[in-house]
Amino acid sequence: MSDRTENQTADTLVPRHVAIIMDGNGRWAISRGLPRLAGHRAGTENLRRILRAAVEFGIDYLTIYAFSTENWGRPPEEVHGLMRILEDVIDRELEELHQEGVQLRHIGRLERLDPKLQEKVLSAIELTRNNKQLVLNIAFNYGGRDEIVHAVQCMIRDGISADEVTDELISKHMFTAGVPDPDLIIRTSGELRVSNFLIWQAAYSEWYITQTYWPDFGKEELRKALDTYAQRDRRYGGLSEVVGNEVHAG
Ligand code: IPE
Ligand code: IPE
Ligand code: MG
Repeated sequence: MSDRTENQTADTLVPRHVAIIMDGNGRWAISRGLPRLAGHRAGTENLRRILRAAVEFGIDYLTIYAFSTENWGRPPEEVHGLMRILEDVIDRELEELHQEGVQLRHIGRLERLDPKLQEKVLSAIELTRNNKQLVLNIAFNYGGRDEIVHAVQCMIRDGISADEVTDELISKHMFTAGVPDPDLIIRTSGELRVSNFLIWQAAYSEWYITQTYWPDFGKEELRKALDTYAQRDRRYGGLSEVVGNEVHAG
């Protein structure tokens, strides 16, 4: 057994931050002869399950892609339905999430949402801000490029000079400031693309793609994703620790 394997504790094998592109709700519904919104509702039910499993598996940060800056291009009824779902989730689930120690955060732009919904999101964030069990980071009206545009605008407005711009400074101006980069990004429903999700933060994330539609992606599927992650050798452009040790020893 290599040093590396012996030295790894269970903790280092669990990703601290998992991000999920919850895709395939529409196809899940259509395959059952249901309207697309029924798929989004089923997807929300599933989120409940995955949230519990994430706590059980020791994940600290869970970021979920719920509505992209490009999703405004869908038919108005679907956009409206997705807004309603966010509102319903806050109305129905907030108290329980709070009891369970979930800290809610939001990434993206709230400005374009209905003022009442903005208010609900902000008060949910405020209520749960000291919770420590798990951070649930909701990407809603989020786009990775929009986030970078926003960060550049903030830096210019703050009068930051060209020489002061560093990797860390850019990270501090992202919506995700203070949150570690995702270790693992899961995409359900089989699409092999980023779809404008965490494009800055995903520089060295591990990816896990499954054909399963999001409403069917249950606890056992999450376990499988985590097991796969635990086998990965994250090299960050260097050499694996085992090879590195051999090189040093030689
Ligand atoms: C993901 O499911 C949820 C959102 C994008 C809001 P989709 O609605 O994209 O489902 P498919 O990809 O059409 O099946
Ligand atoms: C990505 O899914 C956005 C969310 C899951 C919220 P999409 O269904 O919008 O992505 P594309 O259009 O297939 O790339
Ligand atoms: Mg989709």
